[in-house]
Amino acid sequence: MKKILITGALGQIGTALTARLRETYGTDNVIASDIQKPEHSSVVTDGIFENLDVTNQSLIEELVQKYEVDTIIHLAALLSAVAEAKPQLAWELNMGGLNNALEVARTYGLKFFTPSSIGAFGPETPKDKTPQVTLQRPTTMYGVTKVSGELLCDYYYQKFGVDTRGVRFPGLISYEALPGGGTTDYAVDIYYEALKSGAYTSFIDKGTYMDMMYMPDAVEAIVQLMEAPAEQLVHRNAFNVSAMSVCPEDFEKAIQAHLPEFNLSFEVDSVRQTIAESWPNAIDTTAAQTEWGFSPNYTLEKMTADMLEKLNVKITE
Ligand code: SER
Repeated sequence: MKKILITGALGQIGTALTARLRETYGTDNVIASDIQKPEHSSVVTDGIFENLDVTNQSLIEELVQKYEVDTIIHLAALLSAVAEAKPQLAWELNMGGLNNALEVARTYGLKFFTPSSIGAFGPETPKDKTPQVTLQRPTTMYGVTKVSGELLCDYYYQKFGVDTRGVRFPGLISYEALPGGGTTDYAVDIYYEALKSGAYTSFIDKGTYMDMMYMPDAVEAIVQLMEAPAEQLVHRNAFNVSAMSVCPEDFEKAIQAHLPEFNLSFEVDSVRQTIAESWPNAIDTTAAQTEWGFSPNYTLEKMTADMLEKLNVKITE
C-alpha cells in the first residue's frame, strides 16, 4: 500500500483507520473520503479529504486518477439496524458502492480491502466455534449484502485477478467515532453511559453472546492482512476475526471493576435482539491466525480500562 483511498472514512472504522494509516504511510499518501463533510472531524482537518458518493463510479475513478491511488479500502456501507429499516437503500449503497469500487480496482489494477461481518452468518450457522467456511444464510438485508459482497470479492479475484482481501468483523468498540446504527452498538454506548450517568439500559437482552473486538486490534488486522504476502492467503475475502465472545453482563462486570456503582438494566429492542440471535456466539479465527498472523491484544478487561480512560478525557474536554 502506497497511496490509499478510504471510502466511508468518517464512520466508526474509518475515523480510527485514517489516523493510523496517515501515521504509518504518511499524511499525503492517505485520501480520506466520505459523503459527509463535518468541519470538526480530524479526518477532514488533519490530512487530505474529499467528498465522495460511492454510488457514482466515475467519482471514485476521478479520485483514483487525481491521487494515483494503488489501494482502495472500501468502508462506505449501512450497518445492520439501519439496513433493516431501509433495506432497498442498504442494497443500493452496500452492493452498488462495492460493485463500483471493485470495478475501479479492476480497471486500474488496485489492491482492495472491504470488511464483511459476523452479520454474514444466519440462524442456521453453527453458533459456537463458527468455522471459517460454513453455512451462511443470513436473514437480514445487512447480512445479505455482506455475504454477497464476500462472493463478489472472491469473484473479482478469481475472474479478474484483483487483489481483494477482507475480514468478517465482529462488533467493534471504539472511542473515536460512534458506530452508525448497528446491533452491537450497545457495547459502545455502555461505556459512554457508564461515565456520564453511571447506568445503562441495554437494548440487547441478558445472556446474548456476540463476538467483539477493540478498534486498535481491528485497525491492526486491516494493516496486517493488507501487508501479508499474497501466496500465504487461502481465504482471501472474509477471514473470521474476533477478540472476545461477550454478553451485556460481561461488560457490566468489567465496568464495575472501575466504577463499582455502575448499574445495568434491560429494555430489549425486538428488531436488534432478533438480529443478534441470528448471529454466532463465538467464531473460530484459526484461518486468520495461521494465514496472516492475526493476534488481537485486547481482552475485555484491558479494553475496558483503556476505553474508560480515553472516553473520560474525551467527555470532559
Ligand atoms: N457491528 C455491526 C452491526 O452491528 C456488525 O457488523 O451492524
